Formats: sequence, C-alpha cells, structure tokens
Amino acid sequence: MRFLLFLLVYLQTLQAADTGSLLFHGNCTTCHFETKAVSAPSMMEVRKRYLRAFPQKKDFIQQMSEWVHKPNEERSIMQDAIDKYEIMPNLAFEKDVLKEIAAYIYETDFTKHPTTRH
Ligand code: HEC
Repeated sequence: MRFLLFLLVYLQTLQAADTGSLLFHGNCTTCHFETKAVSAPSMMEVRKRYLRAFPQKKDFIQQMSEWVHKPNEERSIMQDAIDKYEIMPNLAFEKDVLKEIAAYIYETDFTKHPTTRH
C-alpha cells in the first residue's frame, strides 16, 4: 500500500515536470533559446537573473508568471535586455500555464540539459 502511494506520487511528479517542459518548449523557445541569445536573451540568462533576484521558488514563480502575463518596463529586472531587444510582447498566456512554466524554469539547469532542440 505504501509502495503504491509512493508510486502514485512519483508518477504525478513526473507528469507535472513533463507538462512544464512541453509548455516551455511550445511557447517560449521560439524566442528564448536555452543557452544561446538570438532574438531574446537565452533562458539560461533569464533564469540566472531571476534566481539572483528571487531565490525562493515561490517568489520566483510568482514574479516571473506575473511579469510574463503582463510585460512591463518598470517592473523589468532586465532593463539591458529591453534596450537591446525591445520589450517582450504580451502574448496573452494563461496565468496557470505561466506558473507551470516558471516552476519548470526554476527547476531546470539549462547548462546541464543540452537538448537538440536549440
Ligand atoms: C516573441 C518572442 C518571445 C516569446 C515567445 C517569449 N519571450 Fe520572453 N522575452 C522576449 C524578449 C525580446 C525579452 C527581452 C526584453 C525584456 O526583458 O522585455 C524577453 C524577456 C523575458 C523575461 C525577462 C523579464 C524582465 O525582467 O525583463 C522573462 C522572465 C521572459 N521573457 C519569460 C518568457 C517566458 C516564460 C516565455 C514563454 C511563456 C517567453 N518569455 C516567451 C521575447 C519573447
């Protein structure tokens, strides 16, 4: 019984991680490559800045999902990126989707997850 419970929790965790990854790759990597800056800063760079400003997972998720929901120059923590690329367009993402994506970004060390995608 214990084992079954453990297995269920484990599977749910796996599923959540997969969803975050899919949502991130489906919605963000057209502009944010994982480790390379092309038309936007790399997600590795964005993550580094956010981790520095918001080390707690809860704050990181809250701040990132809110900002992406409504990109806003005054609340940006990457003013230099706005100067270089112009502000990120408002892409009308759902808040819940953004929270899931932000959690995935928080958990993912992009330098250690080289994918063939980008
Ligand atoms: C159409 C291109 C595009 C897409 C798609 C895009 N971004 Fe961006 N994003 C940018 C550009 C350009 C910047 C740099 C300028 C800025 O900071 O606004 C940026 C900046 C950011 C920042 C830094 C915010 C700050 O403080 O300035 C975050 C966080 C971010 N993006 C998250 C995401 C996430 C998460 C997704 C997917 C849900 C995403 N972006 C999809 C273009 C994009």
